[in-house]
Amino acid sequence: MIKERSSVVITGGASGIGKALAFRFGKEGHDIIIGDVEEAALEIAISELRSEEILATGIVVDVSDLDSVRSFRDQIFSEFSPPYILCLNAGVGAGGSISESSVLDWEWVLGVNLWGVIYGLNTFLPFMEDNNNGHIIITSSIAGHLSYPNMGVYNASKHAVLSIAETLCYELQEKGIEVGVSVLCPGLVKTNILDSERNRPEILTSNVSLNEPDDQDTRKEAVREIYNLALDPDSVADLVFKAVESKQFYIFTENTFQDAIKTRHRDIELVRNPMLGANLVEEHLNDTD
Ligand SMILES: NC(=O)c1ccc[n+]([C@@H]2O[C@H](COP(=O)([O-])OP(=O)(O)OC[C@H]3O[C@@H](n4cnc5c(N)ncnc54)[C@H](O)[C@@H]3O)[C@@H](O)[C@H]2O)c1
Repeated sequence: MIKERSSVVITGGASGIGKALAFRFGKEGHDIIIGDVEEAALEIAISELRSEEILATGIVVDVSDLDSVRSFRDQIFSEFSPPYILCLNAGVGAGGSISESSVLDWEWVLGVNLWGVIYGLNTFLPFMEDNNNGHIIITSSIAGHLSYPNMGVYNASKHAVLSIAETLCYELQEKGIEVGVSVLCPGLVKTNILDSERNRPEILTSNVSLNEPDDQDTRKEAVREIYNLALDPDSVADLVFKAVESKQFYIFTENTFQDAIKTRHRDIELVRNPMLGANLVEEHLNDTD
């Protein structure tokens, strides 16, 4: 059971899944503290939450910057208690093959998706361990379980945070600490992730692109069409809320990718080469050679 009126800290809560989490936990009467780099969106989110009588505070933070995360913590601690629920959710998406991806692409995406989680844990975990209660939710992705082509940078960031969440889960058990951990592994969710570039710092923006602009636009439009059919963030937030209540570690939002995940696990088990193509999954699953 979740403690009554506790503080819930959500990074990347000004949009998409994070914002839905803010509403979901806020409606239960908790103090919501959102940290986000996009100031204008943050202000809008806070006023929307307050208009629903939710106790919400917004603090601008860049999760890829340790000093910024520390000052986020200091501001929280001066007004609230250490988080009872911590959602390390801020993230950005980027496409492109490994050979197309620039060093700046890697620095930006790993900076937010991986270092953002590392800095968040480094800053808040000791206090949560001392309190010996609460719950941490780390947002990974289906991309943390699979390695689809043209998403290598993103895949790497999400595999890394999945591993961090699993390790943390074992370590807390080993120490007998009553802090729960969940890893959120969404499939496609209708959010603003396809427009992640809106928050990309200029200093990490590559001038050199190996893609033709037309190729990029066509690829993006195709993905956008798929995203129109994607899951609503509110239903994801519901799943997260239930998972925290029941102390469930893995949170999947759909079954669509289960066969592909099984195939990957089977490949590892049988030391078999990965094979491209969703249409091959069935055949591949039955192939035990
Ligand atoms: N939408 C999907 O289909 C999907 C699928 C799997 C995983 N995810 C993950 O869900 C999480 C939330 O993404 P979303 O889909 O809601 O996208 P979104 O773009 O709607 O929200 C992401 C939020 O993170 C914030 N953010 C970006 N860079 C930041 C930084 N440096 N510091 C602080 N905040 C920053 C953005 O301002 C935004 O408010 C991400 O970790 C993403 O990788 C999303």
